[in-house]
Amino acid sequence: MSVRWGVAGTGGICQQFGEAVALTDGGSVVAVGSRSQEGADAYGDRFGVARRHASYQELAADPDIDVVYVGTPHSRHEADALMFLEAGKHVLCEKPMSLSEAQTRRMADVARSRGLFLMEAIWSRFLPSYRVLADLLAEGRIGAVRQVEASFGFAMPVMPEHRLFDRALGGGATLDLGIYPLQLCSMVLGPPDAVRAVGHVGSTEVDEQVAAVLHHPGGAVGVVQAAITSNLRCDARIVGDVGVIELPAFMHCPDHLLVTVAGATERIDTPWEGEGLRFEVEEVHRCLTAGLTESPTVPLDESIRLAATMDEILRQVGVSHG
Ligand SMILES: NC(=O)c1ccc[n+]([C@@H]2O[C@H](COP(=O)([O-])OP(=O)(O)OC[C@H]3O[C@@H](n4cnc5c(N)ncnc54)[C@H](OP(=O)(O)O)[C@@H]3O)[C@@H](O)[C@H]2O)c1
Repeated sequence: MSVRWGVAGTGGICQQFGEAVALTDGGSVVAVGSRSQEGADAYGDRFGVARRHASYQELAADPDIDVVYVGTPHSRHEADALMFLEAGKHVLCEKPMSLSEAQTRRMADVARSRGLFLMEAIWSRFLPSYRVLADLLAEGRIGAVRQVEASFGFAMPVMPEHRLFDRALGGGATLDLGIYPLQLCSMVLGPPDAVRAVGHVGSTEVDEQVAAVLHHPGGAVGVVQAAITSNLRCDARIVGDVGVIELPAFMHCPDHLLVTVAGATERIDTPWEGEGLRFEVEEVHRCLTAGLTESPTVPLDESIRLAATMDEILRQVGVSHG
C-alpha cells in the first residue's frame, strides 16, 4: 500500500512535512490545499505535487487522497480536521491538536465514530532518542521516576501579527511550546492529579511565560516551563530513585541522551539524517497499513489528557481560548 497524502496549508511546517514524506518509501504527497491558488502552485512546484487546490474544501473533496496532514494554525485545527474526517479522510493534525479539551474530544469522537485514523503530530515520540528513552524507562534503568523537569522557550520580540502572539490564531507559550515538556511529563509519569501554574499574559493577551508544577498519583512531580519571550534552557531531566536521564536542548528533538547511574554517565547517541518529521510519517504509514485508527504511541486519549492539562494551566494563568 502506498499512502496518498494531502497537505492542508503551505507554511513553515508544511514545507518540512513535504521534505519528510519525500524521505519515506511508504507514501507520497499527491495533493495540496491552500487558501490561494498561488500558495498551492508554489508548494506543488517545490514538491512535485500535481493536484493543487485553491481551498481546503477542494482538498477535502479530492477523492484520491487517503490521509490529510493539517498544518494550519492551532485555531483552525478542529474545523479543518473535522472537515477532512467528514469527507472520509484519515488525519494527521499538527500539535496542539486543538485549542481545548472540548475541541479535542469532538475531533476524537468524529474519528472514532467514522472508524478513521486521527493522530496529533507529536513528532518527538517517534524520534530515535525518544524510542531509546522509552526503552530505558521500561527496563527501569533509573529506577522509579520521582521528577521530570523540562523547559522550552525562546525570546521573540512582541510581534502582534505573528501567530505566536496572535490570540485569534491560538497564540501563546503553553499551546505552542509548553506542549513539548508536557508531553514528556505525560509520557514518563502519566496524567497529573493536580496542576499549579503561574504565568505572564502580555499586551496581545497571550501567555508569554508559564511555569507549571504537576503532581501525579504516587507522588511524582513534573516541573514545566514555556516561554515566547525568554530564552529557556530547552532541556529536560528525568530523575529516578537510582539515576537520571538528561535530554539536552532541544528536549523535543535531542540527538543524544545522558544516563547517569551510580555516578557514572553514559552518553547514548541517537542521531538521524534528514527531516525528523519523517518518523511520525512512517508511524502513520504503519498504522494505516495495519488498519489501526489510533497510534499506540500517541493515542487520542493522550491528546485529550494533554489538552485537559493545558486547559487547566491556561485557566490558572488567565487565558481562555474557548
Ligand atoms: N511539529 C513541529 O515541529 C511544528 C513546528 C512548527 C509549527 N508546528 C505547528 O504547525 C502549525 C502551523 O505552524 P507554522 O509555523 O507552519 O505556521 P505558518 O508558517 O504561519 O503556516 C501556517 C499556514 O496555515 C495556512 N493558514 C490557514 N489559515 C491561516 C490564517 N488565518 N493565518 C495564517 N495562516 C493560515 C497558511 O497556508 P495557506 O496560505 O497555504 O492556506 C499558512 O501558510 C501550528 O499548529 C504549529 O503548532 C509544528
